Amino acid sequence: MTVLASSLDTGAPEYAENRAAMREKLAALEAEHAKALAGGGEKYVERHRARGKLLARERIELLLDPDTPFLELSPLAAWGSEYTVGASLVTGIGVVEGVECLITANDPTVRGGASNPWSLRKALRANDIALANRLPCVSLVESGGADLPSQKEIFIPGGAVFRDLTRLSAAGIPTIAVVFGNSTAGGAYIPGMSDHVIMVKDRAKVFLGGPPLVKMATGEESDDESLGGADMHARVSGLADHFALDEPDALRQARRVIARLDHRKAYGDPGPAEPPRHDEEELLGIVPEDLRTPFDPREVIARLVDGSDFDEFKPLYGPSLVTGWAALHGCPVGILANARGVLFSAESQKAAQFIQLANQRDIPLLFLHNTTGYMVGAEYEQGGIIKHGAMMINAVANSKVPHLSVLMGASYGAGHYGMCGRAFDPRFLFAWPSAKSAVMGPQQLAGVLSLVARQSAAAKGRPYDDEADAGLRAMVEQQIESESLPLFLSGRLYDDGVIDPRDTRTVLGLCLSAIRTAPFEGARGGFGVFRM
Ligand code: COA
Repeated sequence: MTVLASSLDTGAPEYAENRAAMREKLAALEAEHAKALAGGGEKYVERHRARGKLLARERIELLLDPDTPFLELSPLAAWGSEYTVGASLVTGIGVVEGVECLITANDPTVRGGASNPWSLRKALRANDIALANRLPCVSLVESGGADLPSQKEIFIPGGAVFRDLTRLSAAGIPTIAVVFGNSTAGGAYIPGMSDHVIMVKDRAKVFLGGPPLVKMATGEESDDESLGGADMHARVSGLADHFALDEPDALRQARRVIARLDHRKAYGDPGPAEPPRHDEEELLGIVPEDLRTPFDPREVIARLVDGSDFDEFKPLYGPSLVTGWAALHGCPVGILANARGVLFSAESQKAAQFIQLANQRDIPLLFLHNTTGYMVGAEYEQGGIIKHGAMMINAVANSKVPHLSVLMGASYGAGHYGMCGRAFDPRFLFAWPSAKSAVMGPQQLAGVLSLVARQSAAAKGRPYDDEADAGLRAMVEQQIESESLPLFLSGRLYDDGVIDPRDTRTVLGLCLSAIRTAPFEGARGGFGVFRM
């Protein structure tokens, strides 16, 4: 029998405590998501509506097939920065006329929809996802262009948005721009570089320079419509392929464009799948509040995979890392999940072998993080932990099957890398509210800093101020703790979103479905030198 049994005691006080802590974190998360949904706030939302316009998410909803999900990505972008949560841009994956598309929509209620450094990162991340998974890109445009006060951060790197649009097109991935309002200067190149362009009558303003700029530059008197209106672009310049009477008409026309793309997925529908045998609701009670307390990731796997069916690989070898085969919404996956936090040599070697096996069979990999990193100490150094960790990182870095990462608990040090952290380009990476990620744990980091300072004082023959040291340690600990939290990391676009653990199976299912749009093939060779 390969169906996982559960030994989770839902009557135990620990379960109740874990669940209460997770619910508290979820409530805090919801409050932050609400900020993104509120956009620029009531005043700007009302003004926008009074102009007869739809909000960014309403536009997306009208574009999507009825009753289909929208996997919103990075809703917390810009969290903890001076900019509004959400970064004046909505991005995500949704189904239009049966085609999974990458959709971006400016939020014109936030500083006129202008792009700040976080909007730029979010847009570039969306483009990466579209390119890797061959998803058609739909841009719902209404933006004041560059956020002018922060132009130094965005002007030069921002060229990548235009570069990506043309590279997507060159790769045969359709790009569609629907222009609802302002799209001037640099913004004019969004429709300018898209394969298909729809503009809304009396609303679209697509020009390199508006009337005041033209007057200054050439002395010519002009107006918005003659410089960049939908009618002019549809009849005269030819930049608009489709002239829409209003916003719903524009979205209807966008759906027609997509219906005619004949964009096909590389892999068909995997068909119906058995749900997990164990209740997904119980995922709230598995991760302890104190991440130093270990938990069995099989309890998580049992609540994620089809029929809770899991064929474990090498269960007796390197037991701190659980590896095995399963299916998720009918799609085969190989899973690597940390068990007792630390990665030793055996776990690293096991991971490298498992990753190679998945590559031989073209099976995507799912990494479930809860690691404090690779083991330190003389015994382990002498046992070759560096070369074994390097072997695992080499395997992850050069693996060619799609990777998915979920940070459940700790994701520290090189363990974050070995488990396919952000820098290793997983197709998607999500965090649970219980996750923490940093170079090491806050206490360890503060302790190391303090030891180094103590040694430095001793080397200079100076006395060491223990009282100041305690204060410094506490301060550093607090700082590192706050920088390790998922809201902070999500704000910096280090993940694609913080999710409710109960949604993990659905979110991963949507990701796997998107992934299956592009063909993938594992690496049969092509790994770096494995140090044995
Ligand atoms: N950078 C920074 N802030 C901007 C901005 C930009 N590019 N565009 C608009 N904003 C701010 C405005 O200052 C205003 O802030 P406030 O409410 O605190 O005063 C807020 O966003 C809303 O702008 P507002 O002009 O009232 O909204 P609108 O809906 O009537 O018009 C625009 C929106 C985008 C048409 C108009 O603001 C505009 O033309 N902006 C400049 C566009 C431009 O030339 N950009 C450079 C392109 S590279």
